[in-house]
Amino acid sequence: MGDPRRFDVAILGAGAAGLMAAIAAGRRGRSVLLLDHAEEPGAKIVISGGGRCNFTNRDCKPDRFQSQNPHFARSALARYTSADFLALVEKHKIVWHEKTLGQLFCDGSARQIVAMLLAECEAAGVTLRTGQRITDISRPDRFRLMTDEGAVEADSLIVATGGLSIPKMGATGFAYDIARRFDVPIVPTMPALVPFTFGDEQPAMRTLAGVSLEVMARCGGASFREAMLFTHRGLSGPSMLQVSSYWREDQQIHVDLAPGQDLAALFRQRRQTRGKAELQTILGEFMPLRLAQAVTLEQGASGPFGGLNQVTLNAVIERLKDWRLSPTGTEGYAKAEVTGGGIDTKALSSKTMAVTAVPGLFFIGEAVDVTGWLGGYNFQWAWSSGWAAGMAA
Ligand code: FDA
Repeated sequence: MGDPRRFDVAILGAGAAGLMAAIAAGRRGRSVLLLDHAEEPGAKIVISGGGRCNFTNRDCKPDRFQSQNPHFARSALARYTSADFLALVEKHKIVWHEKTLGQLFCDGSARQIVAMLLAECEAAGVTLRTGQRITDISRPDRFRLMTDEGAVEADSLIVATGGLSIPKMGATGFAYDIARRFDVPIVPTMPALVPFTFGDEQPAMRTLAGVSLEVMARCGGASFREAMLFTHRGLSGPSMLQVSSYWREDQQIHVDLAPGQDLAALFRQRRQTRGKAELQTILGEFMPLRLAQAVTLEQGASGPFGGLNQVTLNAVIERLKDWRLSPTGTEGYAKAEVTGGGIDTKALSSKTMAVTAVPGLFFIGEAVDVTGWLGGYNFQWAWSSGWAAGMAA
């Protein structure tokens, strides 16, 4: 046992990225200190994926990540892949399944992933200290950290304290404070993968709270065919969370409420076969009845379907195929699954996550301006960027 105040590598944040960086550095024989202000490591892993942790995605292509430099994530993702993480999961005999769109989940509990990472840390000789507040960081020659329990020193400092999402769970802007201290540039942050809110312009929406259906949602050049959920405050569900990462204030979202349906052809056919039925009944063939009723009411399209004029039907088709929405905002960091923006990748080596201007300083995980789609991509970024830094620090 060496000096408990001197380490080769200090890692701040025992979340997904920090745990992985600790494993990689520890396996290389580095003495590693992993520090967290929370009592429990990996808190977000525990609650992720509805408690089953969507730990990676089989289809982890670089185009599933947003960043000011869209190529930045490529190198780290290629060096520690979703297959590598899956091999680790299998080594620990964690039973998993593929849910949809390449998303891999534990059959049992997300706690298995935390237990696996902690076991790997232990095997790699990592020193884990939780419940520790870091009060100061300086770099006279080595990195010097002041903690509740005294000073520690390290040659390398890996910052893995995450982003601003879910402050209730201990999220802080600490990574950005450290970046500012060392003159590392920051891309403005924003809540991402977050539900939308709407003002009074869409009163019918509130009455639909709880209704869910598959839609095609488009915004800012991206489109997602996944479920949408009406909430008491606006819209959520995977499709909305996905487009929220591309949405900027004053932009409209376009929603196709009947993806894959040729409504003009369907309506022509139903005029022949179901002319006496009401529009809401016809729409109810492919969407929840409550939504079908709301659209029928809104369009003033009551009465037998066969009696509706073409102008009304065209308006219904436009309403369903290209519903244009102007959110007033989002639910913010309190509900955002991740933080968009962060440490500017221009300052980092894409191979090692090291700050090129500050030898020994690294930023990884959600703190960095790399934001994945919903579906296991953000954990894969945490594993890959953590691995890259752990192999270099
Ligand atoms: P993470 O936030 O995990 O860890 C940061 C650590 O730093 C924490 O342990 C924190 O306590 C510590 N810390 C913060 N400030 C500190 C300070 N000042 N001093 C010391 N320590 C400090 N992604 C995915 O791919 N699949 C999924 O299923 C889900 N599900 C999901 C559900 C919910 C509800 C949320 C909020 C998020 C997800 N995510 C997800 C996103 C995923 O959780 C996220 O991308 C990763 O946890 C990011 O990993 P990091 O290690 O970068 O940060």
